[in-house]
Amino acid sequence: MTAQGHSKVDREALFGAFDAYYAPRLDQHGASARGVDWNSSESQALRFDQLLRVREGGVPCSLLDYGCGYGALAHRLVAQGEPVDYRGFDVSERMIDLARAHNPDPAGCRFSNRPNELEPADYAVASGVFNLRLNVGEAAWEAYVLETLDTLAQLGRRGFAFNLLTSWSDADRMRPDLFYADPARFFDHCKRRYSRNVALLHDYGLYEWTMLVRTDA
Ligand SMILES: C[S@@+](CC[C@H](N)C(=O)[O-])C[C@H]1O[C@@H](n2cnc3c(N)ncnc32)[C@H](O)[C@@H]1O
Repeated sequence: MTAQGHSKVDREALFGAFDAYYAPRLDQHGASARGVDWNSSESQALRFDQLLRVREGGVPCSLLDYGCGYGALAHRLVAQGEPVDYRGFDVSERMIDLARAHNPDPAGCRFSNRPNELEPADYAVASGVFNLRLNVGEAAWEAYVLETLDTLAQLGRRGFAFNLLTSWSDADRMRPDLFYADPARFFDHCKRRYSRNVALLHDYGLYEWTMLVRTDA
């Protein structure tokens, strides 16, 4: 897989469009799973379960939640009583305002929407960051995803994890504004580009998969 040969995604325009997409959902549902367009808090939590598996044997650790939304993962870690060194990053100022307003542990959790404040952590995770492509073409979107995976790889010192909707979804249920990715192709890409230690999870009952990339083994 290469990230070349396609017109580049205009990130500024894209992030503005994301804000417009999430605004009515946040207005209606507030800081909740539905507010960030998940079907339920159960499916949101199930995604976190998969992503956190990247830390196997690596707890306590620092964690970067890339595309953190209103900070649901921070709440989950604090509720579990885990020692938290959590940093949440999101391109949306509104999301970060919500995350800060509901910060479950101001001593252990920090939030930012400024790319220049991004710092590497032990692990970087991204949940639901690559699903919504709006009207961006598939090839350009894939290039954008690959570029962002390089960023995640740099930000997770010991590894990173992300999820994507699966190309194995039923065709009649697929939406034209969402991106459905072939897990085998991404597995191949992650093995070749980032690490020999890659796990593909496609067995948790959602129309998506999770990739764990461990670079510290
Ligand atoms: C579906 S929501 C999921 C939020 C959170 N991860 C969760 O599971 O509750 C996706 C979030 O990713 C953010 N996002 C999308 N693209 C991003 C990017 N390139 N960098 C940082 N945040 C991004 C959006 O603003 C939105 O808050």
